[in-house]
Amino acid sequence: MSQTRIIINGSKGRMGQALIACAARMPELEVIGAVDVGDDLAALVPKADAVIDFSFHNVTVGVAELCAKHKKALVIGTTGHSDAEKSAIRHLQSAIPMVWASNYSTGVNTLFWLTRKAAEILGPGFDLEVVEMHHRLKKDAPSGTATTLLEILGDVRNLQFKDALRHGREGIVGERTSNEIGIHAIRGGDVVGDHTVIFANVGERVELTHKASSRDTFANGALRAATWVVSQKPGFYDMQDVLGLK
Ligand SMILES: NC(=O)c1ccc[n+]([C@@H]2O[C@H](COP(=O)([O-])OP(=O)(O)OC[C@H]3O[C@@H](n4cnc5c(N)ncnc54)[C@H](O)[C@@H]3O)[C@@H](O)[C@H]2O)c1
Repeated sequence: MSQTRIIINGSKGRMGQALIACAARMPELEVIGAVDVGDDLAALVPKADAVIDFSFHNVTVGVAELCAKHKKALVIGTTGHSDAEKSAIRHLQSAIPMVWASNYSTGVNTLFWLTRKAAEILGPGFDLEVVEMHHRLKKDAPSGTATTLLEILGDVRNLQFKDALRHGREGIVGERTSNEIGIHAIRGGDVVGDHTVIFANVGERVELTHKASSRDTFANGALRAATWVVSQKPGFYDMQDVLGLK
């Protein structure tokens, strides 16, 4: 069996360490580079089949450009990109296959699917709120996963996503309108990642919750995405493609 040769970028971080540990249990993968600040990613990329990036938002564009230059596949786990960074990354989709997912866990991708179904079934009478909680060291907010959930809700409700968002509430904000989606980011302790989508109507409420208790769930998904993406045509894919949920 030929192994998929991967580089892990951001290897000293929480996710990088989980990726290294999980990859060691996958004989179909070989980690040929564990790269962090100060290491020479450019020298290693030609020797790899795919790069997995779990670093920082302003690093991903350069990683994607390196992969495009050498025609190597890319798995993007990093979150918190600006609109300009996102469009620079998207620009490279004609050159290489890329998997870009705000969350690589199977459970969260099921939550994405359920959220779309619930929003479609419950309809506009239900108020939409998303609550997420992460560890105290997380740098971006709301989380990439919460942003994907908000995009799904905005899409089903046909709302201009950014105008509809209410980031927390403070002061005399007035009554809630039906065209808003609340988002609340809680930070504390060592929480790996909790997400709840609330559908609230008069007389009843539906809540969909996912709680991650180990980073291995994201790491295993990203590694699975790496073995999958190396045989795909150039373009953009997400975890639903990898899991065959589309
Ligand atoms: N998509 C998912 O499923 C998922 C899951 C968890 C975390 N994340 C995201 O992954 C990213 C990393 O999370 P984390 O908790 O591991 O963060 P972390 O801060 O623990 O690790 C990030 C690592 O990237 C390194 N880094 C920074 N700049 C770099 C550069 N120029 N080159 C190489 N390495 C560089 C840092 O030194 C650090 O070791 C965050 O954006 C987080 O939101 C995504």
